[in-house]
Amino acid sequence: MSTVMITGCSSGFGLETARLFLARGWDVVATMRTPDAELLPASDRLRVLALDITDADSIARAIEQAGPLDALVNNAGFGAPVPVELTPMDTARALFETNTLGTLAMTQAVLPQLRERGAGVIVNVTSSVTLKALPLVGVYSASKAAVNAFTQSLAIEVEPFGVRVRLVLPGRSPTTRFGANAGVHLGGLEHPDYGPMVQGILAGFRDTSGPVTEAQDVAEAVWRAVTDPGTPLRTPAGKDAEEWMREAG
Ligand SMILES: NC(=O)c1ccc[n+]([C@@H]2O[C@H](COP(=O)([O-])OP(=O)(O)OC[C@H]3O[C@@H](n4cnc5c(N)ncnc54)[C@H](OP(=O)(O)O)[C@@H]3O)[C@@H](O)[C@H]2O)c1
Repeated sequence: MSTVMITGCSSGFGLETARLFLARGWDVVATMRTPDAELLPASDRLRVLALDITDADSIARAIEQAGPLDALVNNAGFGAPVPVELTPMDTARALFETNTLGTLAMTQAVLPQLRERGAGVIVNVTSSVTLKALPLVGVYSASKAAVNAFTQSLAIEVEPFGVRVRLVLPGRSPTTRFGANAGVHLGGLEHPDYGPMVQGILAGFRDTSGPVTEAQDVAEAVWRAVTDPGTPLRTPAGKDAEEWMREAG
């Protein structure tokens, strides 16, 4: 029996990924800042643990409670749709604190047991916006591109120890809570110069008429990255992300 720990399971991609691993017979440690076991189907293979990836004590507690792991999925993260010029430094720091350093801290916390056992997988969920420059996501994209960068080095470093490291790059998904949560950090809507651009981009983000990414696309991409040693370092998730990956080459 294999055990996966997934961060950010209270909604969206993390919740769907936890459901999929449970349905396919894995033991799942679903972590959330505010644990709510009722979000997932009852199972003796499910444990729901409290975890804030920006808090070192919270990380240490969750890793200890989880016990031996075969896979870690670093999914927790948030966005902030705001022009670079208008991004408050507190927002920029928070983006890096969660998306980049939180992911790094979780990776460092789980890696020793995988390396010592000579087996295991770490999947970092970043974003397809790192493949193509878009307005309003400059600092968010930088926080995710930084994860891509250290993950690529890490993959080479730990491959000799039998540990696989992979990236999953989801496309735009207006159906998760991501957009609503990102709204907390929305900026520039009323700005005389940036306002019309911000309004247009927001409408585009919420538009579901074109190709978008569903939570199931991400769950399936994470599943492949964890279970299939043949997957490449980067797996796009969602039709839009696949298209962008082809364009990026
Ligand atoms: N939706 C998109 O368009 C999109 C596209 C590309 C990539 N992504 C990335 O995919 C991942 C999942 O996004 P989603 O769309 O599923 O968004 P979501 O529905 O907002 O879920 C994000 C999850 O991350 C958790 N989280 C945020 N900060 C955390 C922290 N400090 N510690 C622990 N958990 C934390 C949230 O927990 P709380 O409930 O406690 O806030 C929530 O469970 C994120 O890394 C996001 O950047 C999203």
